[in-house]
Amino acid sequence: MFEQTVYSGNRYKNYETVVQQLQALIEDENDVIANLSNASALLNQFLDNINWVGFYLWKEDELVLGPFQGLPACIRIPNGQGVCGTAIAENKTMLVDNVHEFPGHIACDPKSQSEIVVPMIVQGEKFGVLDIDSPILNRFDEIDQQYLERFVEILIENM
Ligand code: SME
Repeated sequence: MFEQTVYSGNRYKNYETVVQQLQALIEDENDVIANLSNASALLNQFLDNINWVGFYLWKEDELVLGPFQGLPACIRIPNGQGVCGTAIAENKTMLVDNVHEFPGHIACDPKSQSEIVVPMIVQGEKFGVLDIDSPILNRFDEIDQQYLERFVEILIENM
């Protein structure tokens, strides 16, 4: 049973809590879809000012929509396209302060203004991305990046 958490510490402390919660949620389970579903639900109840959080999974040669929270979204993203496709092609976290200034940004929800995408590489192979959208500009910073990369590492370690 998971109860809505009140995250009352500073940002670091709250992110430490959410990382521990992720660990506890996934440690006894190895079903990937189940774990990614709970991971997106965990982040959705933790992060403020977001309108979409979820995963795209690498299939053959493109990203395909995976478990997420938010409005229905674009289903397939080619390698190298948009923020997600760039993150997976370059194996690099993309921190986008203003999506309207990102060449080739794929607008699934016109409300989205800023975005962070963390690539997921499992045993040297493309696996997918964690994608989070915000309806405000400059929502994400290096602290979010640091902890969301840790969040993704924990998911990958458990696969
Ligand atoms: N904006 C993303 C597409 C996915 S949606 O944000 C859910 C991109 O440019 O890759």
